[in-house]
Amino acid sequence: MPRAVIRDRRIMTNRAGKPAFHLEDKMSHSAAARPATARKSPALAGTARVPGDKSISHRSFMFGGLASGETRITGLLEGEDVMRTGAAMKAMGAHVEKNGAEWVIRGTGNGALLQPEGPLDFGNAGTGSRLTMGLVGTYDMETTFIGDASLSGRPMGRVLDPLRQMGVQVLKAAPGDRMPITLRGPKHAAPITYRVPMASAQVKSAVLLAGLNTPGITTVIEPVMTRDHTEKMLKGFGANLTVETDERGVRHIFIEGQGKLTGQTIAVPGDPSSAGFPLVAALIVPGSDITIENVLMNPTRTGLLLTLQEMGGRIDILNPRNAGGEDVADLRVRYSELKGVVVPPERAPSMIDEYPVLAVAAVFAEGETLMQGLEELRVKESDRLAAVANGLKLNGVDCTEGEASLAVRGKPGGKGLGAHPNGPDTAVKTHLDHRIAMSFLVMGLATEKPVTIDDANMIATSFPEFMGLMKGLGAEIE
Ligand code: S3P
Repeated sequence: MPRAVIRDRRIMTNRAGKPAFHLEDKMSHSAAARPATARKSPALAGTARVPGDKSISHRSFMFGGLASGETRITGLLEGEDVMRTGAAMKAMGAHVEKNGAEWVIRGTGNGALLQPEGPLDFGNAGTGSRLTMGLVGTYDMETTFIGDASLSGRPMGRVLDPLRQMGVQVLKAAPGDRMPITLRGPKHAAPITYRVPMASAQVKSAVLLAGLNTPGITTVIEPVMTRDHTEKMLKGFGANLTVETDERGVRHIFIEGQGKLTGQTIAVPGDPSSAGFPLVAALIVPGSDITIENVLMNPTRTGLLLTLQEMGGRIDILNPRNAGGEDVADLRVRYSELKGVVVPPERAPSMIDEYPVLAVAAVFAEGETLMQGLEELRVKESDRLAAVANGLKLNGVDCTEGEASLAVRGKPGGKGLGAHPNGPDTAVKTHLDHRIAMSFLVMGLATEKPVTIDDANMIATSFPEFMGLMKGLGAEIE
């Protein structure tokens, strides 16, 4: 398989010309598409650990790279997306290295990032790029952001709009505020009060991070609560950040700029979004009984668990505990006869990345599952709503794609579903989207006929161990 390893020195060195390091080894894409096929599998069994949470991993590199002193991270997700964030922080002056199982970061100190020598290449990573735009946009320097075809198609105006209000100039952007984007911060950024117009932790976080380098108090108003890792972790690093929730449940987040951040020790818990794949696989493959250890149980991330339990999923939450300020638990999951449910729109923020794999669970449930409030799925790594509906239809599933909804009518047992791998146009189009790839491979473990995807390469962005982990549990994927 030809591999095009990204070795662009410009994104690997900072002004001081510090040498590059092995972050780049984790940022390799196979140049050629790599199709994969999943087949009806025997009962899944065993115990597994999924990699570290992606959201917390990105933030660990960013905040560690910014803080004074040393940050030590264990359990970090070593997926391509996160490695890009590490490389970006290094290119802006942070010292980042791996020592055994631990990543050790020595940050620049708040307000002291350096102008990178070349563009920051975020690959496929929306979180890395949007949060970094907030982090450095207000600096009196020029920064250019580039990404792959998927990232270059995603809207960045949602982050650029508040940054413009703070005084940031967008020197260059492709039409529709898309990458490549060049930002230039003002001499002194202006603190703003910003009401986040869509349920987005990335937008909330970008404004809060911009506030770190802005004099005075920056306020973010969040009408619908999204994942709160930025707030929790920034407080842990010593930021003066407070949250007030009013009588309507609207959150007001205040951050005081230009304070000191101090390096921390972080143990990243397992990613509940990644856990969703083996979890749904065990629910739909008859006879399965698996345990997934050390999964993050932050309530802003547990919508999938709740929904699957409502569908009749036998998921036991074992050993609930607190580790480093986050709730974690082990999940025992057994094959279950699922039934369709209505998933309310207000649950979307707590399971926004999990709809593709929930749709797969719905394929094997009795009756209809209706998912609502899915407008944000249209602007993920792909238009996930269309990608899921098209992939389901291709494999014989009865479903209806609405403007912001998806209805899936299940077929317990998966009879007649799937497609012959050698047939014409039978591969699901993954559109450079890791979660589409993994979801459809999970589906093929329980359909009568196999399910094939056109490209498994992007799985490395968030879950490099996916194939090995699933095969270790008994999944037939090649
Ligand atoms: C993330 C927020 C979500 C999510 C993404 C990670 C984060 O995006 O889909 O995978 O770490 O803040 P939005 O903020 O666009 O909903």
